[in-house]
Amino acid sequence: MSQKEKAKILIVDDEIRVREILSRKLTDDGYHCLSAADGNLALKMLKTDPVELVLLDIMMPGKTGPEVLKEIRSHYPDTAVIMVTAIADVQTAIGLMRMGAYDYIIKPIELNVLSVSLDRALEKRKLIIDNRDYQQHLEQRVEEQTKKIRQSFLNSTTSLAYALEAKDKYTHGHSERVTKIAVAVAKEMAASKNIAEKIKLAGLLHDVGKIGVSELILNKPGRLTDEEFELVKAHCEVGERILSPIVEDKEILEMVRHHHERYDGKGYPDGLSGQQMTKGSNIVVAADSYTKVLSQGAMALAVADAYDAMTSDRPYRPAMPPEEACSELVKGKGKQFAPIIVDTFISLMNKGKKSIRFLPKIIMSKDNR
Ligand SMILES: [Fe+2]
Repeated sequence: MSQKEKAKILIVDDEIRVREILSRKLTDDGYHCLSAADGNLALKMLKTDPVELVLLDIMMPGKTGPEVLKEIRSHYPDTAVIMVTAIADVQTAIGLMRMGAYDYIIKPIELNVLSVSLDRALEKRKLIIDNRDYQQHLEQRVEEQTKKIRQSFLNSTTSLAYALEAKDKYTHGHSERVTKIAVAVAKEMAASKNIAEKIKLAGLLHDVGKIGVSELILNKPGRLTDEEFELVKAHCEVGERILSPIVEDKEILEMVRHHHERYDGKGYPDGLSGQQMTKGSNIVVAADSYTKVLSQGAMALAVADAYDAMTSDRPYRPAMPPEEACSELVKGKGKQFAPIIVDTFISLMNKGKKSIRFLPKIIMSKDNR
């Protein structure tokens, strides 16, 4: 649709003859025209029926053209105004342009001049509005674009982590299982939806740093040498480093970095320790102190990770039965693992909780808990 078909123009002039001639000409040209005999009526009309452009006579009884112009500029800044004057006075014209008029034309109006002036004013108005919208939405667009880029990086990183797991029958599906367990435990402990989401992402990506560890070491059938073990341990920090340009959330990065820490502070890479938690305490460390203590997420991931590792086949040993793995978790309570996390996990297993239905329902004896 052309600009002319859409534009609505208000003609403000005290001479009925001028209003009629202009209205006929502009309607013939495809504009939609309204007219007003004085400034007050024009302002009243604008209140209920906004227009793209006002053709405004300067000399009128009542409110003068410049007075009306001033009000239009302040109340309807998106309305273009062309002043119409019988006075061929350059100074007046410059003054009106300074007040915000787009153009001025001199009476008697030459219809060709009017057409050119209207086209130019409407084009300028459109540019101003488009530019302002662009500026206003620029920030939002940049943000959306950044989000998309991040998500796409994240997707590729997750795919890479999965591809790495898929190559090894022993770790196939590990991240997903760990995620399900850790999220189920966190939810059972009344973690907020937000925290559960963070744990989910951290769980899916927790071992992404293994991309940086040689497959020969990862798949080595026998015991690792001290040197090799140091290289494997580095996957926590490498994971954090890989993710930090794409994951802004410090809590997620903290969970990835600390999923091999121990409750008693003897884990790696930083030797952080956990702290007593009760159900619903929802411990999440503030971003500025996130390296000081282990968060609920990191501790839940540690338990889930250990359980899945124990119950998966390894090149050097067969999978442990679930009951036995749970007993190991219980033995590690307060040492390797946060007691409340182990208790919650065992209780979920006992209940055969739907969210971790892929795990067998087990019944641990009271002395074993
Ligand atoms: Fe790991």
